[in-house]
Amino acid sequence: MDSNAKSNPTLHLHFAHYLLFLYLASSYYLSFGDGLPILKCIEKERRALLSFKQDLTDPSGHVTKVDLRKRVGFFGKSRLLSIAPIDEEDWKELAYERSSNSSLGGKINPSLLSLKHLIYLDLSKNNFRGIPIPKFFGQLKSLKYLNVSFASFAGEVPSSLGNLSNLSYIDLSSDFISPSVVSSGLSSSLGNLSNLNYLDLSNDFISSSIISSGNLNWLSHLTSLKYLNLNGVNLGSTGASWLHAVNMMPSLLELHLSSCEIENLPLSLRSINFTSLLILDISKNDIRSSFPSWFFNLTSLRKLDLSYNSVTGPIPSEFTSIKYLEYLDLSGDELEGQIPEFIGNLCRLKILNLNENKFVGGIEELLNGFSNCTENRLESLLDLSYNRLESELPASLVMLHKLQYLNLGFNNFQGSIPEFIRNLSSLKTLSFSYNLMNGSIPESLGQLSELVHLDLSWN
Ligand SMILES: *[C@@H]1O[C@H](CO)[C@@H](O)[C@H](O)[C@H]1NC(C)=O
Ligand SMILES: *[C@@H]1O[C@H](CO)[C@@H](O)[C@H](O)[C@H]1NC(C)=O
Ligand SMILES: *[C@@H]1O[C@H](CO)[C@@H](O)[C@H](O)[C@H]1NC(C)=O
Ligand SMILES: *[C@@H]1O[C@H](CO)[C@@H](O)[C@H](O)[C@H]1NC(C)=O
Ligand SMILES: *[C@@H]1O[C@H](CO)[C@@H](O)[C@H](O)[C@H]1NC(C)=O
Ligand SMILES: *[C@@H]1O[C@H](CO)[C@@H](O)[C@H](O)[C@H]1NC(C)=O
Ligand SMILES: *[C@@H]1O[C@H](CO)[C@@H](O)[C@H](O)[C@H]1NC(C)=O
Ligand SMILES: *[C@@H]1O[C@H](CO)[C@@H](O)[C@H](O)[C@H]1NC(C)=O
Ligand SMILES: *[C@@H]1O[C@H](CO)[C@@H](O)[C@H](O)[C@H]1NC(C)=O
Ligand SMILES: *[C@@H]1O[C@H](CO)[C@@H](O)[C@H](O)[C@H]1NC(C)=O
Repeated sequence: MDSNAKSNPTLHLHFAHYLLFLYLASSYYLSFGDGLPILKCIEKERRALLSFKQDLTDPSGHVTKVDLRKRVGFFGKSRLLSIAPIDEEDWKELAYERSSNSSLGGKINPSLLSLKHLIYLDLSKNNFRGIPIPKFFGQLKSLKYLNVSFASFAGEVPSSLGNLSNLSYIDLSSDFISPSVVSSGLSSSLGNLSNLNYLDLSNDFISSSIISSGNLNWLSHLTSLKYLNLNGVNLGSTGASWLHAVNMMPSLLELHLSSCEIENLPLSLRSINFTSLLILDISKNDIRSSFPSWFFNLTSLRKLDLSYNSVTGPIPSEFTSIKYLEYLDLSGDELEGQIPEFIGNLCRLKILNLNENKFVGGIEELLNGFSNCTENRLESLLDLSYNRLESELPASLVMLHKLQYLNLGFNNFQGSIPEFIRNLSSLKTLSFSYNLMNGSIPESLGQLSELVHLDLSWN
């Protein structure tokens, strides 16, 4: 049946392999499919899987391979999560590999319920054409992992899921192509999942208001969460209640709140519980205040993204208390003043994006700050474009010799392009466009052997 795939390795490479994984708590390898050996299999479970399969539609007819692999892949999305893996010895994985443009649809047969020990159910990236998430999933009591993302399920999250007391991961995310319209009230039954580590309700609809959050009380019950993604969920009407809920989650490592229509961040908190946080993304909201003071108690943060809000004021010196920061994106805000020296004291920074703000002055201060760092100063990206920066380029710029992306465009930089530019030998992208620079283009620019994009226009 899969002679095509076998005889054509190139085609084989196209096969996405995560469309349907069933992890079974059985200590047997299970496999099924046309002509493939059933290595060892409990007959009842096999029959259940066959009826499950018969009810599904598979428009491509390209079910090509049943693949048995040992490793679980579901830590891939958040490597930073240090969740102890579920004992892999106990259960095995069963996977369909199918062509990239095919997806499962049809009905989900309750025969799945005979798989008493089902721990892992992944129906992501399919097309169930708006059927609701089956209520009977709430009876799969052993489930630890449920992934129904990008599968075009619609309707509310069934309240029966609140009965899955062992559930540790639930992924309900969706996108424009596979909108899972999980309606308001976002299923307060999820609040009963006290063992939940991972909750993803994100969607990237063009209009983020399709999913609105309703009352968020249930969220504060999820005190074990390590990963929370509400990107695209409209939190606009909930005031600061999301923050109070998050403050009940002392183990939280990642918080994603991009495009949530958040307008206000309380500037202070009486106490803060989620200080283990590594990743905070509140980009693309409507925050108009200065930096809240509790940010600087999040001293474990590796990544902070506040881009595309309207955060105001100068960058406060308390930033230096977030000393492990590797990624700082404050682009598209309303920040002003000089780019301060102490930003350069964040020696672990790899990415610094301050574009589209109102910064003035030169960049010498910033570079001075970096002079205290020993190695790896800003090795990936420095974007200061669309500000009001001026003066000539200081020679201390060569300190950032590992930098790959440098954009100083749309400012008021003057003088000529310095010879020492060749010392920034890792540069792949360089832009000085829309400045007031003059003079000739130095030959040394030609020594930037990694350079792919160069923009010197409008000077
Ligand atoms: C769920 O499936 C999607 C698509 O296959 C994948 O990107 C995502 O990482 C999965 N979620 C989890 C928690 O493993
Ligand atoms: C995707 O579908 C088209 C027709 O719908 C087919 O020609 C093509 O071979 C398919 N691609 C793969 C990788 O199966
Ligand atoms: C839930 O997990 C615990 C601990 O792993 C286990 O002992 C128990 O049997 C599980 N419950 C179900 C219904 O599988
Ligand atoms: C949860 O389980 C209990 C006992 O098994 C059952 O009585 C109840 O109806 C279930 N709740 C839902 C919402 O399915
Ligand atoms: C949890 O389940 C109980 C019944 O088992 C129910 O009364 C309660 O409202 C649920 N709590 C949440 C937060 O859903
Ligand atoms: C901090 O978390 C603990 C445990 O979840 C909770 O009891 C406490 O109320 C939380 N503190 C705040 C200020 O929310
Ligand atoms: C933040 O840290 C400072 C200094 O360590 C401390 O004084 C303050 O109470 C902390 N704030 C909160 C909300 O925990
Ligand atoms: C460099 O570090 C020293 C000691 O930590 C400090 O006093 C000094 O202000 C730092 N210089 C810059 C430019 O940050
Ligand atoms: C640039 O590198 C050359 C040697 O490769 C060195 O002589 C020169 O001093 C460097 N320029 C600056 C400004 O550090
Ligand atoms: C470049 O512009 C400066 C004024 O900003 C001027 O003093 C200088 O002579 C100009 N240099 C060249 C080569 O045009």
